[in-house]
Amino acid sequence: MENLLKGKKGIIFGALDEKSMAWKIAEKAHEQGAIFTLSNTPVALRFGQLDELAKKTGSEIIPADATKVSDIQNVFEKSMDILGGKVDFVLHSIGMSLNVRKKIPYPELNYDYYVKTLDISAISFHKVLQVAFKLDAINEWGSVVALSYIAAQRTLFRYNDMADAKALLESIARSFGYIYGRERKVRVNTISQSPTMTTAGSGVAGIDALMDFTERMSPLGNADAKDLADFTVTLFSDLTRKITMQNLFHDGGFASMGMSKRAMLQYKQSFENNCEDCE
Ligand SMILES: NC(=O)c1ccc[n+]([C@@H]2O[C@H](COP(=O)([O-])OP(=O)(O)OC[C@H]3O[C@@H](n4cnc5c(N)ncnc54)[C@H](O)[C@@H]3O)[C@@H](O)[C@H]2O)c1
Repeated sequence: MENLLKGKKGIIFGALDEKSMAWKIAEKAHEQGAIFTLSNTPVALRFGQLDELAKKTGSEIIPADATKVSDIQNVFEKSMDILGGKVDFVLHSIGMSLNVRKKIPYPELNYDYYVKTLDISAISFHKVLQVAFKLDAINEWGSVVALSYIAAQRTLFRYNDMADAKALLESIARSFGYIYGRERKVRVNTISQSPTMTTAGSGVAGIDALMDFTERMSPLGNADAKDLADFTVTLFSDLTRKITMQNLFHDGGFASMGMSKRAMLQYKQSFENNCEDCE
């Protein structure tokens, strides 16, 4: 399918390097005819490769720390200037936990870091929605998407305080989605993505084993960042106008599985190998 996003304008938060989900989504949105601005923190702009993506997609970059309402407001105001009016889609692809980075286990959370995790990874989504709503910056039938993870519903070893952030993120999508839908016919959803090897993903301890497990458990296998880009552009398009307030699992079927044949075989093998170190 071609030109699914022809005439659509958007804002993409959170592309850091070419492994980023937001990067792949930006490439796909561009390929499908959208125009958009890109935003990330000043630090990410210094150390990432966002210039390359901006050049490739003909986009302008607007720096913002997504925990600062004034920065987000600047992103929306400048984007409307640059793109020539209200936007049709917004991607929130932002997450970070200092507790995860510093390997602080969940029962020993540092509370300053915990508050930062929630602010950066979840409350920033509320801030994006609030600014957009106040500025009336999104066209009717527009679409806002944030990226989530199944740790919002189920406990996964070592996902730490990011699980709490994702639960809050998904709740914000429902709470704000109701108001934004009722008042302005704007959709708000989260996509719960398979574990994926990005900068944020590789910060999760044991991501290799986790990805192997979810691959074995999922009848369709893990969804990668390119698969996610395909799915996300459908949510930005006019083909999904009545989907809102949802958390949509994009994980090859993992969320509905209890045990698979492939995972069972691997588990049995671990007994044969006398795996002592398996927690
Ligand atoms: N990689 C995975 O396994 C996986 C799975 C499900 C969901 N997700 C989610 O996808 C989203 C994107 O992550 P990714 O995997 O592409 O990794 P990534 O590291 O490429 O992206 C995370 C982005 O968040 C940005 N960010 C951090 N603090 C910020 C702040 N204060 N203001 C603005 N931006 C800030 C970073 O600069 C970076 O661009 C995150 O919400 C992540 O939790 C990731």
